Amino acid sequence: MEANIEPDDFAPRLIAWQRTHGRHELPWQRSRDPYRVWLSEIMLQQTQVSTVIPYYLKFLARFPHVHALAAAAADDVMALWSGLGYYTRARNLHRCAQVVVQQYGGAFPQTVEQLAALPGIGRSTAAAIAAFSFGVRSPILDGNVKRVLARIFGIDGFPGDKRVETAMWALAESLLPAADDASNDASDDVRQREGAPVEPIVAYTQGLMDLGATLCVRSRPDCGRCPFAHACVANLTGRQRELPAARPRKAVPTRRTMMLVLRSADQVLLEKRPPLGIWGGLWSLPEAPDVDGLAARAAQLSGAPVVLAPLAPLAHTFTHFRLEIEPRLAQLVDEPRAAARDAHTAWVRLDAIGDYGLPAPVRKLLDALDGTLL
Ligand code: ADE
Repeated sequence: MEANIEPDDFAPRLIAWQRTHGRHELPWQRSRDPYRVWLSEIMLQQTQVSTVIPYYLKFLARFPHVHALAAAAADDVMALWSGLGYYTRARNLHRCAQVVVQQYGGAFPQTVEQLAALPGIGRSTAAAIAAFSFGVRSPILDGNVKRVLARIFGIDGFPGDKRVETAMWALAESLLPAADDASNDASDDVRQREGAPVEPIVAYTQGLMDLGATLCVRSRPDCGRCPFAHACVANLTGRQRELPAARPRKAVPTRRTMMLVLRSADQVLLEKRPPLGIWGGLWSLPEAPDVDGLAARAAQLSGAPVVLAPLAPLAHTFTHFRLEIEPRLAQLVDEPRAAARDAHTAWVRLDAIGDYGLPAPVRKLLDALDGTLL
């Protein structure tokens, strides 16, 4: 079955829906400043709006423009990102700010191609930034948009599959609002005025995102409110659960590690992780593959044999594997350590770990310790 809608009717219907039912009050929608648009789009790549908002506001307060972010210490950027996950985004964010300052004098480039060449910006994110900041007419295709298109147009196959994805890009391109409106033309460099209606490409792009985030959600989509219910293949054939097709299943492997919580009075020893690999550049706890290895590390780090007490195990799921963490507590009884810090290790008071970029599960583990008796 084919979707019961002409490509030319798609954009006007979506834009009309976005104007009445879409989201208009998100913090990053108040501005067309490409720095703010870019920051929000990077944060929103793998994280939902409600989680992003406080991080976005915190980042903006600390780094109000791209020059401030480019000049920041990597550790400060990581600390502010801590908890959002997918830390490659934070490292790319920092690098991207530096490239924009060095190569473009601090002004973000305005074409999709130039934007997509910057660190951490893929084709879809580049198109979103170009549309929201500069009114460029270019298709987006993130996970949510793939779901919307797969359902309305009845596209079979896993959207991560190259063949399916290529077809979806072509479809997304064909659905864009008509280019005849002068306000769609990027070369005009049209800026949004306060209170003025948003350009069609802005409403359209936001509309696709809003539809995917508010109605056409993964499970239990709200088809009763959808402007495409009458045309949508998934709705008309009851295949909302089957479209889009799931990723062909591969079992995710499990890795195990042990972590050492080495305490001295109200301090704990943190170690900086190497720059590459999981949690690269974040502060974390010393690790070893087994108890003997962990005991050896504890003895080496404290200069004395120590007793290891088990703490509650925890697990964290990454895209490609599941990490099971078995923590052990070692309590030093001698004098509290001086709050020393070098490039790779730091004795940190438990109530000050918020100043460090820590992986979320490690932070959770240490938060649970804060306030426990020595
Ligand atoms: N997801 C990705 N970009 C977004 C945006 N600009 N607004 C809301 N959700 C989004």
